[in-house]
Amino acid sequence: MKKIVVVNNKGGVGKTTVASQLAFHLAEAGHSVIAVDLDGQKNLTSVMHGQRIGGQTLHMIETGEAPSIELQPGEIVLVESSDELPVSTDDAILQRSAQAIAELDGADFCIIDTPPTFSATVYGALLSADFMISPIELKKFSLDGIEAVLKAFVQVQEINEHIQFLGLLPSRFDAVKQSERDTLQMVAESYANLIIPHAIRNRIAYEAASAEGMHVREVATASGKEAAAEFKAFFQWFMTAIGEGN
Ligand SMILES: Nc1ncnc2c1ncn2[C@@H]1O[C@H](COP(=O)(O)OP(=O)(O)O)[C@@H](O)[C@H]1O
Ligand SMILES: [Mg+2]
Repeated sequence: MKKIVVVNNKGGVGKTTVASQLAFHLAEAGHSVIAVDLDGQKNLTSVMHGQRIGGQTLHMIETGEAPSIELQPGEIVLVESSDELPVSTDDAILQRSAQAIAELDGADFCIIDTPPTFSATVYGALLSADFMISPIELKKFSLDGIEAVLKAFVQVQEINEHIQFLGLLPSRFDAVKQSERDTLQMVAESYANLIIPHAIRNRIAYEAASAEGMHVREVATASGKEAAAEFKAFFQWFMTAIGEGN
C-alpha cells in the first residue's frame, strides 16, 4: 500500500481538497483507498460523509494500532477524525501515530489529510509514509511557509529514508491576478525542481465537490468541466510520480 501525506502547516491552502480529490480519482481508477483524517477540524471526514467508516484516528493515536479494514476495488473507506484529536508535540503520540499508520493495510493507497501544524500526529504519519505532497497558495509570497515545509521534510527524511517529496502543488491559484502569476513565477524560479508542473486553480467547482462529497467531474457546470480536466492532468502526473504510470 502506498501512503501519501498531504502536508502544509498553513490552513486554507487546499490540503483537504487535494486529499479528497486524490482519493476520488484513485477510486475512479479502480483502486482501493483508505482516507485518513488526522485533522481535528474534521474537514476530510465531512467531505467523505458518503463513504464507509473503517475506524477512528483518535483510537489509532491512543493505541498505536490500526483498524483492520477490507476494501473492494474502487472503494474508499474513511478513518474519521474527532474533536478530541490532540494537537500535541508529545513524543509518545508521535510514536503511536507512526506505528498505527505503519500498520495500516488492506488497500492499494492511503491518503492522509493533516492539520495546519507540524504536530506529533503529522510527524508520526510522515515517519511511516512513502510520499509527501504540499499544496501551496500564491496569495502572498510566503517563503517562510515553504521553508518550514521543506525543513520538516528534511527532518523526517533523516529517519524515514525512503520517503519521497512529490513537490509543492500550486493550489487555489487565481491566474487572473497578475500578482499571483508573478508569485508563481518567483516560486518556480526559487524552487525549480520542487514545484509540481501543474496548478489547481481557484474554481467554485472544488468547493461544490467538497460540499457534496464527490469527484469534481460530477459537478455539472462549466467550472466543473474545467476543474475536472485540470485535476485529471495533475492526477496523471501524480500517478507517474508515485510509480504508477503506464
Ligand atoms: N482550488 C480551489 N478552488 C476554489 N476553492 C478551493 C480550492 N481549494 C480549496 N478551496 C476552498 O478553500 C477552503 C480551504 O480549502 P481546504 O482544502 O479545506 O484547505 P486546507 O485543508 O489546507 O485548510 C475550502 O472552503 C475549500 O472548499
Ligand atoms: Mg484541511
